[in-house]
Amino acid sequence: MEKTAANIEASMRAVSEHIAAELRAIDRDVFDFDKNPFSFLGKAARARFTLLAAAALGAGGPKAEKAAAAAELTHTASLLHDDCLDMARYRRGLPTLYDQIGINSAILVGDLLISMAFECAGRAAPDLPESLVQAVRRMTEGALIEENSKGKKISAAEAEKMVALKTGALFRWCALAACRLANRPELLPDCARLGEEAGSAFQIVDDVLDFEGDAEACGKETLKDVKEGKYTLPLILALNDPQAGPEADRLLAAIKTGPEADLAPALDLAELVRKGGFSGAARKIAAEKLKNLFPVIDKFPDPEGAAALKDFLLALGERRA
Ligand code: FPP
Ligand code: MG
Repeated sequence: MEKTAANIEASMRAVSEHIAAELRAIDRDVFDFDKNPFSFLGKAARARFTLLAAAALGAGGPKAEKAAAAAELTHTASLLHDDCLDMARYRRGLPTLYDQIGINSAILVGDLLISMAFECAGRAAPDLPESLVQAVRRMTEGALIEENSKGKKISAAEAEKMVALKTGALFRWCALAACRLANRPELLPDCARLGEEAGSAFQIVDDVLDFEGDAEACGKETLKDVKEGKYTLPLILALNDPQAGPEADRLLAAIKTGPEADLAPALDLAELVRKGGFSGAARKIAAEKLKNLFPVIDKFPDPEGAAALKDFLLALGERRA
């Protein structure tokens, strides 16, 4: 395990350096990264997942690092756009690009990053950009469904579909890319499931953190989803509960109709979701999803890599930031 961990850390440094070099290579007239810095790695869950999946499948080295960098560039591009949609001021502990340079330029820098991601994926393997296009399409579909559902009470099944698209799709690509690099075509369907389910679980925990996380630790505002009328799994579970449902409904109505500066109903709703055990129940669903992936990982050829991948998935389910 130690050897795998050391290799992954060395590869993570290579990924970070690779992306930093790409960003600094942008013509300063186009975008000056030193003047308007933003964090381009965050938790780096997608890069780590790509590298760990590759290691478990028996691949690694510079190609896996390029695929990992492509995944993070895609993710950061989507966050630059997402911050414009959310009008978010704070991300990964820093002012967002939306806050620094405005909506138009932030969208365009996102577009720039996504084109860099395709280039990077192509350098890992010539067939990877095509599947990345499909992943971006699915992410965008998920983001659009979320946008169209704002203020609407959706079911747990609809929420599940949304997270599988907006977040599951990119993790799915990471696992598929690792599988292609390892040249194990017979494992592609398993890898697709592994990635999509791992990404969905990651997003469910993200949604839980919006209710239970602390803004400092998360590096972004919390209680954003309820203020924006987004129905995520912990809230849906509270609404579906015969006891808590009516009070959750009342608080949602108060958030919707009350003055924006009045945080009391959002804080009360968060307390209801936490103390009623609904954030815990959502975490349990995420943890189950992750545990159910272990038999898939057991099929992978490298036992050390497989064990490290399992540890990573368990940590995803338990994360507090
Ligand atoms: C963050 O989730 C956002 C996503 C996971 C995906 C957003 C996707 C798009 C904007 C479309 C794809 C665009 C490109 C360029 C690839 P969240 O909103 O739940 O998290 P947050 O609390 O951090 O805002
Ligand atoms: Mg968002």
